[in-house]
Amino acid sequence: MDKPALSVRGLCTYFYLKNRTVKALDGVDIDLFRGRITALVGGSGSGKSVLSLSILGLIEKPGRVVKGAVILENTDLLALPERELRRTRGERIAMIFQEPTNSLNPVIKVKEHLFEVNRRSARRMEKREALPVFHETLSRVGLRDTGKILESYPFELSGGMCQRIMVAMGLLARSTVLIADEPTSSLDLTTQAAILKELSRLREDGISILLITHDLGVVAQMADDVYVIKDGRIVEQGTVYDVFEKPKHEYTKLLLEKDTGLKWD
Ligand SMILES: Nc1ncnc2c1ncn2[C@@H]1O[C@H](COP(=O)(O)OP(=O)(O)OP(=O)(O)O)[C@@H](O)[C@H]1O
Ligand SMILES: [Mg+2]
Repeated sequence: MDKPALSVRGLCTYFYLKNRTVKALDGVDIDLFRGRITALVGGSGSGKSVLSLSILGLIEKPGRVVKGAVILENTDLLALPERELRRTRGERIAMIFQEPTNSLNPVIKVKEHLFEVNRRSARRMEKREALPVFHETLSRVGLRDTGKILESYPFELSGGMCQRIMVAMGLLARSTVLIADEPTSSLDLTTQAAILKELSRLREDGISILLITHDLGVVAQMADDVYVIKDGRIVEQGTVYDVFEKPKHEYTKLLLEKDTGLKWD
């Protein structure tokens, strides 16, 4: 197989709480390949969001990445100075956050959020060229009345709308790697299908996608590769076919049973 587009090696992220240390990630290795969707599945609190934030260098106190490397095109992102890391985010790695309300600035218009994504993108468009693309991208994620939405502030929009705007930002970034943390949870099925279709289009354009989801149906439908995480450790990995057909780890079997009601043995 090709060289990975992004490699995570031995990543450890700990949270230093008053009377204990939470090892949210404890030696995680993951490879993302060009033009493939890699799903990361695991129960609540298993470390999925901490992994994506660690890749982007966005872990805040009391948390800290204590060990490991995140290699993108021969560079260890964790060793980059903050300025360069900031440039890498957006230009080469984009992220759709699980919590849109925390990542959209409530008092900055949607339009300005999208212009900012475009400004940081490696495939920057002229302002004139960008606006029609904004309209199109917003309608692709199921938003209507896009003119009004572009002129709105996030605080004026519902949670579901903000989530779709986050997805639109991820699509517009045109980065090498896209991390999507539960991009469709809490959206209706039609919107979910529209967004999954857009992610498939990105894959066809050669973008590597890390898709974090609870939904094993989505994994079966979308992903090429799967990693299963439990308590901050990868317990199983392989192609979707391998993992679904012959789960090795008890935890994966449990996840699959819970989701499908079938017994594996
Ligand atoms: N700011 C924080 N302070 C302390 N502990 C934290 C913090 N953020 C995350 N953790 C711990 O790290 C672990 C992993 O959390 P994470 O948010 O990555 O879970 P997750 O797999 O994304 O769960 P979910 O599916 O619910 O989104 C949890 O045990 C959580 O308690
Ligand atoms: Mg999470």
